[in-house]
Amino acid sequence: MSDFRPQPSHNLAGQHPVWMGDQALGRLEHWLTSHAAGAKVVVLGDENTMELCLPVLLEQVPALREALNIQIRSGEQSKDLEVCRALWGHLAELQADRQAVLVNLGGGVVTDVGGFVAATFKRGIRFVHVPTTLMGMVDAAIGGKTAIDLGGVKNLVGAFADPVATCIHTAFLRTLGKREVINGVAEMVKHGLVIDADHWNEVRRAPLYDLHALTPLIHRSALLKAEVVARDPHEQDQRKLLNYGHTIGHALEAFAMESAQRSLLHGEAVAIGMVCATWLSWRLGLLDRDRMNAVEEHLMGLFPAFHLQETDTHRITELMRHDKKNRGDEFRFTLLTGIGSARTDVPVSAAQVAEALEHYRLLLPDVRLRHHTQA
Ligand SMILES: NC(=O)c1ccc[n+]([C@@H]2O[C@H](COP(=O)([O-])OP(=O)(O)OC[C@H]3O[C@@H](n4cnc5c(N)ncnc54)[C@H](O)[C@@H]3O)[C@@H](O)[C@H]2O)c1
Ligand SMILES: [Zn+2]
Repeated sequence: MSDFRPQPSHNLAGQHPVWMGDQALGRLEHWLTSHAAGAKVVVLGDENTMELCLPVLLEQVPALREALNIQIRSGEQSKDLEVCRALWGHLAELQADRQAVLVNLGGGVVTDVGGFVAATFKRGIRFVHVPTTLMGMVDAAIGGKTAIDLGGVKNLVGAFADPVATCIHTAFLRTLGKREVINGVAEMVKHGLVIDADHWNEVRRAPLYDLHALTPLIHRSALLKAEVVARDPHEQDQRKLLNYGHTIGHALEAFAMESAQRSLLHGEAVAIGMVCATWLSWRLGLLDRDRMNAVEEHLMGLFPAFHLQETDTHRITELMRHDKKNRGDEFRFTLLTGIGSARTDVPVSAAQVAEALEHYRLLLPDVRLRHHTQA
């Protein structure tokens, strides 16, 4: 499998190499011995990646055996200023200078927080992402966005900063739970839907728990993201394609966080966001009904139902107004114009968003049943 190499003339954020395939960890070993000899090297992980992934990493990347390890608690709560403060403090105690290297071993939480800490410590030290979740491999660890949450708002504080490279070793996924695998599949489906119809078809038919079969699709999905981001690192136009499903998805994530008994992973929220956005694409005349039905059927079959009350719609649109990417009462959506093609910045009203959410709500089996019994 070939690696991703951005155009040499570019040096903006979002244009880092992605190492993939059997040689990925070997490339990391080579880079460390040739570019970080004598430098302070720190591996950052959470309790799961330190237990399950670090031994594999150390076996295959001997240059890391002398590295210092720092562990944060797993979960979104670690994308937090206090965690950053502690990490900056550790780096200072270790007398890390600007030659230091931070190796972020984990899912999107570790790469987001580790990337942000590295980007800001002494105005930026070098870092490498070694994603260990599917979400990390196809999305979070690619493209140079780093962030932490503040005051309950996701990714409110962050920076664009590129890792030296992102190193994708899919064998790490062997220990990942099924719910986490499907969570990452949401972003693969998204890449197919907005950029590449073949990818959509492959992902749709793939045996998702067969790592051997999934690996080439993971590489393809990571490449699709890397290519879009390299063309538009700061989200001026093309990168907005990747926001498909996220306008409503982010609000749903925030909504689920407010109601303690209902948890929703990022990919699960995006999947519902994609159901709504696909319906809006049809409603606004951009997508035909057959294609809408095919996308909807696939997503509804793959992801768990998230039960909404009719009254929840209001709160969700309110949360959308708080999103840093939205302004006022009109939202800008990325919508499908076909399978594998999309349009960015399509204006959608709050009333249309409410209709889309209601459409999702009525798709859920027990809502349908309830309406039927009442009829
Ligand atoms: N920067 C970006 O462009 C970007 C893009 C998408 C998502 N994100 C962010 O990523 C975060 C979500 O990332 P995630 O879904 O990877 O979640 P995560 O980092 O919380 O990981 C999920 C769980 O899996 C565990 N885990 C990780 N690797 C494992 C392995 N190999 N085996 C067993 N368990 C393992 C973790 O400890 C954690 O409990 C969110 O904060 C989201 O905002 C960022
Ligand atoms: Zn996402």
